[in-house]
Amino acid sequence: MAVVGRRDKAQQSLRSRIAIAIVTGLVIGCLIAFYFPHGLIISYPSVRTRRFGIPISSPNSSLYRRIIPKLKKQIRDLKYKLRLVEQGKDHAEKQFLVLGEQHKGGPFGTVKALRTNPTVIPDTLVNPRLAKILEEVAVEKELVVALANSNVKETLEVWFSSIKRVGTNNYLVIALDDHIVEFCKSNDVPVYKRDPDDGIDAVVYLQNPFNHLYRDSNVESMTDGHDNMTAYGYNDVFDEPAMGWARFAHTMRIWVFNSGFFYTRPTIASIELLDRVADRLARQENSWDQAVFNEELFFPPLPGYDGLLAAKRTMDFYMFMNSKVLFKTVRKDDKLKKLKPAIVHVNYHPDKLQRMKAVLEFYINGKRDALDAFPDGSE
Ligand SMILES: *[C@@H]1O[C@H](CO)[C@@H](O)[C@H](O)[C@H]1NC(C)=O
Ligand SMILES: *[C@@H]1O[C@H](CO)[C@@H](O)[C@H](O)[C@H]1NC(C)=O
Repeated sequence: MAVVGRRDKAQQSLRSRIAIAIVTGLVIGCLIAFYFPHGLIISYPSVRTRRFGIPISSPNSSLYRRIIPKLKKQIRDLKYKLRLVEQGKDHAEKQFLVLGEQHKGGPFGTVKALRTNPTVIPDTLVNPRLAKILEEVAVEKELVVALANSNVKETLEVWFSSIKRVGTNNYLVIALDDHIVEFCKSNDVPVYKRDPDDGIDAVVYLQNPFNHLYRDSNVESMTDGHDNMTAYGYNDVFDEPAMGWARFAHTMRIWVFNSGFFYTRPTIASIELLDRVADRLARQENSWDQAVFNEELFFPPLPGYDGLLAAKRTMDFYMFMNSKVLFKTVRKDDKLKKLKPAIVHVNYHPDKLQRMKAVLEFYINGKRDALDAFPDGSE
């Protein structure tokens, strides 16, 4: 934030009074973009069955037909904004170059590249109504965003009860129908309504997640991995005996990021990522949002393809826990059982509501056998 700190005083105080955003949430092939200056966590549904990647909602539904044109307009607006930022030669980055510390090489083991990407300059005009809500809700310009419609009212209730309980007040429900707007208002839950869509959030909050972020990358995400190797990456050796001396080829593998829960900082690279994902989801009707998210984030530039250049970080898989880690490993291990995660995302299991309630019983109400009745996977 040193970069921002050096920005023109008047401009900055104006801007810091007005919390604005690009809040971008992806839902069933849909991107919602707003402007936001510091960062946010997005949790959104796993819209397909994990194992086979079968879409639950048909891309030809009226839902999609209504959303796509609006989505396209949002992308156009976003591109326009991006161009403006670029034409402004990325104010923050330039200032950093001018005012920031000049770097030299150094002794082995001492040289570090920039750890944090400059943030983009926010713009309240993108969505003044949302900007006002964000100003009221965000803490340190950060917030949690979740999307919900009436089908997931009960899950939403578990969600906001858990998040309220851990003292996280900077959260916002994006309501997808009027019923949810009313429901949130009657429960004192900050709510914003935009276009119709679909969504369910299966994340239980056990601690304030903002206390467990590094904030050094464009994207920090939960992993679908279940141990050190799968979560953080490993050397996967491919064996081709016919090659004799050179039979072993080394590959690098990492389990995908779970795009149902990630934190993103408002950097140009983050915007580009979400823009790319939204664009592909709009064009490729059977694509899986999570797969696209990972491909855009991880595939490097190649001949004929300009890959995204964006720093990313894998969240601690015990702190930001997926339901496979919980049900396959943690609940059976006396030491791991004592650790309290920040969140548990029930992404690996279809009986989400029951498992979410059990997670709360286990971690909040201390019912030590609350998780026992469930099978490791789905039957
Ligand atoms: C979706 O609708 C379009 C136009 O009505 C049609 O051409 C296409 O085959 C449909 N796709 C699916 C998967 O049903
Ligand atoms: C996983 O990595 C952590 C941190 O490096 C280490 O403390 C732990 O022992 C590792 N666990 C296993 C099973 O290797």
